[in-house]
Parts: sequence; structure tokens; C-alpha cells
Amino acid sequence: MKGEGDRQANSGRFQGGAARLGGPEGGWKTGFAGAAAYVPRVISQETPMSIFTRLKQDHDRQRELIAQLCETEGDSEGRRDLWPQLFKELEAHALAEEQIFYAALMEKPDGTEKARHSVAEHKEMSDIAEELSEMAFSSSGWLTRFKTLAHKVIHHVDEEEEEVFPKAEDLFDEAKADTLEGAFDVRKEKELAAL
Ligand SMILES: [Fe+2]
Ligand SMILES: [Fe+2]
Repeated sequence: MKGEGDRQANSGRFQGGAARLGGPEGGWKTGFAGAAAYVPRVISQETPMSIFTRLKQDHDRQRELIAQLCETEGDSEGRRDLWPQLFKELEAHALAEEQIFYAALMEKPDGTEKARHSVAEHKEMSDIAEELSEMAFSSSGWLTRFKTLAHKVIHHVDEEEEEVFPKAEDLFDEAKADTLEGAFDVRKEKELAAL
């Protein structure tokens, strides 16, 4: 059970929550071209989760997998191992995010526009991911197409964190943000199991 101090610690704006996710060392070191240098930020075990910190945790995993995949070549062991992980992560995250987070945001008149925009981007990313899954890893075009997907994913998660989550924080109270976090986890597990 959370104490009063914990509740207060978790009641800040999303920007405050983001600051708790990691020190100044987190983030892109050399821009997208140097994607391999991405240093994921770590969430403290003691940090209480809200839907916002939970979704950002997935985003950081996606950034990490993308950086690793950008370093792979052809039909290699690395690409065979990493691509299915990213594919499942992107699909399950987007579906659970739509069914739990965006469904709640859609109920708020002031959140509808951002929800519709994000869901449209999910569809666009999902179509490219399906296309990549059907391409041979050895194809010369695989990495080019993958980089198109990578740019779209990075743009999308940055936009969610910088624009959508602050807006949702205005619209959801703390209890709602906590409830959505639990529901998201349950839903994502089900989506992963179905892939
Ligand atoms: Fe999303
Ligand atoms: Fe997301």
C-alpha cells in the first residue's frame, strides 16, 4: 500500500515523472544515425508506475531494439533473433495501448484528436512491420525499409511522450492513471500470447 509520501511523489506532472526515469545520461548520444549509441533510461524499482511510466518503459525497449537492429546485416543470427522481438513488442504495445489508453482518451472530447492521430500512425507502422516480416532478411531492401519503420516509430513514441501524455495527464486523475496501468499490462500479455 502506498504511503502519503509515495502518493505525493507520484502526483507530479508527466514531465516530473520523466525526470525520475533516469539521469542526464539517458537518451540518444549521436542522433538517429548513431542509433546504436542509444542509452536506455532505467526506471527505479521503487518508482510507482502509472500508465505513463509504463508506456514509456515499452517505448525505451522499442528504441533499444531498433538501435540493435540497425546494426544487423543480411540474414544474420542477430536479425533473426531481434526482429521477431521488435515485431511482437510493436504489435502488442500498439493494440493494448489502443484498447486501454487511447480508448480512455477517446472518451474525453479534448483527447479525441490526439487519439485518432496516434491510432492512424499505429496502422501505418503495423502495415510496414507486416511487410518486413514477409521480406527475406537477405534482401538488399530489408534494412532500407526497416529504417523507414524505425523513423516512424521514433517519431511516434517521441510525440506520445512529448504531446499526448501531458495532454492525457490533464484529463486523467491519478487513480485513473494507476488503473489504466494495470489494465494495460493484462491486455498486453493477452495480445502477446495471441501473436
Ligand atoms: Fe502508440
Ligand atoms: Fe506507445
